[in-house]
Amino acid sequence: MQGRQLIVDTLLPLLNEHLSAEEIERMIEVPANPEHGDLAFPVYTLARTFRKAPNLIAADLVEQIDSSKFDQVVAIGPYINFLLDRNEASNETLKTILDQGSAYGSTDIGTDKNVPIDMSSPNIAKPMSMGHLRSTVIGNSVGLILEKLNYNVIRINHLGDWGTQFGKLIVAYQKWGDEAAVMADPVNELVKLYVDFHEKAEKDPTLEDEARAAFKKLEDGDPEMIRLWTWFKDESLKEFTRVYEMLDVQFDSYNGEAFYNDKMQAVVDELEEKGVSTVDNGATIVDLEAENLPPALIKKSDGATLYMTRDLATAYYRYNTYHFDQSLYVVGNEQSNHFKQLKAVLKRLGNDWADDMHHIPFGLITLNGKKLSTRKGQIVLLEKVLNEAIELAMEQIVKKNPDLENKEEVAHQVGVGAVIFHDLKTDRLNSFDFNLEEVVQFEGETGPYVQYTHARAHSILEKYNQALDDQAAFTLDDDYAWAVIKKLDDYPAIVQQAATRYEPSVIAKYVIQLAQLFNKYYGNTRILDEDEAIQSRIALVKAVTIVLKDGLGLLGIKAPNKM
Ligand code: ARG
Repeated sequence: MQGRQLIVDTLLPLLNEHLSAEEIERMIEVPANPEHGDLAFPVYTLARTFRKAPNLIAADLVEQIDSSKFDQVVAIGPYINFLLDRNEASNETLKTILDQGSAYGSTDIGTDKNVPIDMSSPNIAKPMSMGHLRSTVIGNSVGLILEKLNYNVIRINHLGDWGTQFGKLIVAYQKWGDEAAVMADPVNELVKLYVDFHEKAEKDPTLEDEARAAFKKLEDGDPEMIRLWTWFKDESLKEFTRVYEMLDVQFDSYNGEAFYNDKMQAVVDELEEKGVSTVDNGATIVDLEAENLPPALIKKSDGATLYMTRDLATAYYRYNTYHFDQSLYVVGNEQSNHFKQLKAVLKRLGNDWADDMHHIPFGLITLNGKKLSTRKGQIVLLEKVLNEAIELAMEQIVKKNPDLENKEEVAHQVGVGAVIFHDLKTDRLNSFDFNLEEVVQFEGETGPYVQYTHARAHSILEKYNQALDDQAAFTLDDDYAWAVIKKLDDYPAIVQQAATRYEPSVIAKYVIQLAQLFNKYYGNTRILDEDEAIQSRIALVKAVTIVLKDGLGLLGIKAPNKM
């Protein structure tokens, strides 16, 4: 990290009694106004230490700094602003990126640290919704980002394959179901039954009792119930797998809720022995008033376990199996209270490791402004959305590049990439509306735009088609090139930031900006002109392809060389 490293090396001898190299590096900012400097170091947090006003600290430090390696070092208010020597910095940045290739931006802070990520986790016998798409792509990307920092990531699909809804489904199937219809189109047929159940139960509440009884039988191991449940589960998994293949997401474990069936009693007993749980109207609960949370339900009055009970057993299992450094749960923000309760109960039992469990919440997707709900039957079938996106991508490709050889493959990468990118480009907590036409545009802040920029840069390299002289100095100092180089230099810090915030949008926004800056450069530069700077320009183009491809890769998106 060229400019940043230089600043760290310069400031460390002056500040090493107060700050470490890592701390200094983390404090470095990019000034909003590029005229103020290429990079800036804020000193206001040092006011206490030095017992001085920040602007005086900045001025004093500037006096002491060896500024010979920079173009300029000035104090502006509480900031020390650095203008880098463009020629030197561009050479160093480009050399580093070309040397390191796809390793650029990686570190080994995660070595030997396990991070289970609970992600996707759809419910059996329901279609995967856009909400599960969010969990899948956010979880996968967080995993890829952490893997770049050398963490050992374990992707876990905590399938919703247990709970009272299976009682409802079984009752609905036994009453109104048709075996042949379920065989022919399983998930759709099961959803119909589920929707039916809810409609009919509004008029006839005894159906709910029947469902509860059926689930109880399932929990007690009734063979017929188990047979139906297994069948529903297998059929659902087949459909989910098709979507995961389209998204190119793999899981290390499919241990869903049912897996914890025989592991819940231990924690229920522990809660009782330690006097953490109480019985309330026949139900077992943990009162969490002290934590300002609603009570956690551990067992219903009929003895049936709950989502919470299974998550408690799951937390222990993951702790004992993975000895995790962090345990992540990528689940919608409507479950925030559930995860707060989960951690609170574990802490009551004296498990400090619960502090390393993090809920990574995200906002809702609406479709044309409407909330999606499986129960009312307004479901967006993810597979349908992906297939439509691929078709739209194909239309664009046929228009733009009719001679492209592997159109099918590229349309797949672009269509699927567009849906993923759209999901990841806004802060995950924001809700957003989904409009497919917008998502697959080649212009604007879209995935296809970034992929297209990558392909354009790649085609320049193909035209040039020569190896770079590694003895040459890659010096560039015009404003367009410099803007690109500064962005490239930011990449390692951006990856770090995305990792600490569990926020793929940091990467998505970054690749958009890099693509925009590169397109400005491209529009204003004759890259392939045979003059003495051609090698430097090609080095820049190559560095851009490396970083765009890697950035898209961290989002789980492919970067085709041609499109
Ligand atoms: N199946 C749940 C749902 O669709 C999500 C499960 C999340 N993971 C967990 N360990 N609770 O709402």
